[in-house]
Order: sequence, then structure tokens, then C-alpha cells
Amino acid sequence: MTTLLYLKTSVNGDNSRSDRLSHDFIAARRWNQPELQLITRDLVSDPLPHLGREQWDALRLPPEQCDARQLAYRHQSDQLIAEFDRADAVVIALPLYNSGIPSQLKAYFDLLARAGISFTFTEEGPKGLLRDRDVYLIATRGGQLGAEEDHQIPAVRQFLALLGITRIHTLIADGLDLSAEQRERSLLAAGERIAAMA
Ligand SMILES: Cc1cc2nc3c(=O)[nH]c(=O)nc-3n(C[C@H](O)[C@H](O)[C@H](O)COP(=O)(O)O)c2cc1C
Repeated sequence: MTTLLYLKTSVNGDNSRSDRLSHDFIAARRWNQPELQLITRDLVSDPLPHLGREQWDALRLPPEQCDARQLAYRHQSDQLIAEFDRADAVVIALPLYNSGIPSQLKAYFDLLARAGISFTFTEEGPKGLLRDRDVYLIATRGGQLGAEEDHQIPAVRQFLALLGITRIHTLIADGLDLSAEQRERSLLAAGERIAAMA
């Protein structure tokens, strides 16, 4: 059985375009693989703590030096890494907010990055310790960006590379808040691409 992990990150609830496109992708994938097991992690409804001093100490100090809250954070990190690692493929709904990725997704990434567990340091630089797998980035944007202005997809790609994940597939639906015509065009093109990607 194939396990698909879906990371939901939009603050727009039922009006989210990244969520709708991700659902279309998952439905198409299910059509091809009826046995698919879906794990949904809603990072907005069920937010994770942000990385602060207390959390950073929790991840880097020996457990004996951690208090109960820090042990809970550390345990959460262990569980999220295990959940991610169980997944054969991952879908990330990726809206563009204030020129970057949703802060909830960043908080999740901060829990996935664990030296000695999900990556390690070598003389050539950091090396990922997780097995490679397909990750689908379903990106939505109100406007349109030049390549040098894109701090959305490169940020995620670079983070996943740290863990050893390189099989990244991207879909961008942009210009969604420019005009009704542009939105329609963009969502139509995204729908066609989803069918091919799934
Ligand atoms: C808080 C917020 C910040 C946004 N910032 C940007 C931005 O910097 N650049 C942009 O092109 N669109 C921006 N948008 C528009 C969203 O990227 C767009 O509406 C997209 O559909 C959001 O995905 P979602 O519908 O899944 O939430 C922003 C929207 C919100 C709600």
C-alpha cells in the first residue's frame, strides 16, 4: 500500500485554492492507486510551536537536561519525522504569503530538521538521512513573480534537499488575485497539469 502525506497550510479555510488543487491532485492519484492511504496534517488547524530558545535547547541538549515541555517538543519532532519518513510521497499545499512560505510550514520544517536523525554534517557539508521520495508542491500566488523574486519554491526545495529529498515536482497557479480572467486561465492550466502529474 502507498502512503501519501498531505500537508495543508492555507489560512483561507474552505476558500483555499492550494487546498482545492491539492485535493484534485490527491483524487487523481487515488484514481490511479485505489489502495492509497492518505495522512492529512493540517498545520493551520493544528499548529505546531515555533522554534524559540526553549525549543532549540529541547532539540540540541541531551534529554536529561530537558524539562517536561521540552521533552514534549522533542517527542513531537520524533513523531513528525517518523510520519514523514513513513510516507511514500508527500503533497505540500504551498500558498505564497507576504513573499514567503506560510509560517506554519516553517515551524513544521524546524521540527523535521534534526542533526543526527534527519540529516548529518560531513566534511562536504550537510547530508540528508531520509530516503528520497516524490514531493509535490502545489503552489498558489495572488500575483506573478520573476525567478529572482521567488522565495517560495526555492526555499522548500532547499530545505528538502537538506533531508535528502530531491524528487520535487512543482505546480504553480499564479496571478490568482490579478483578474477573474487570469484566475480562470491559471486554474484551468493547473487542472490540466494535475492530471499529468498524478
Ligand atoms: C496573508 C496573505 C499574504 C499574501 N501575500 C502575497 C504575496 O506576497 N504575493 C502574492 O503574489 N500573493 C500574496 N497573497 C495572495 C495569495 O498568494 C493567493 O490568494 C493564494 O491563492 C493563496 O493560496 P490559498 O488560497 O491556498 O490560501 C497573499 C494572501 C494572503 C492571505
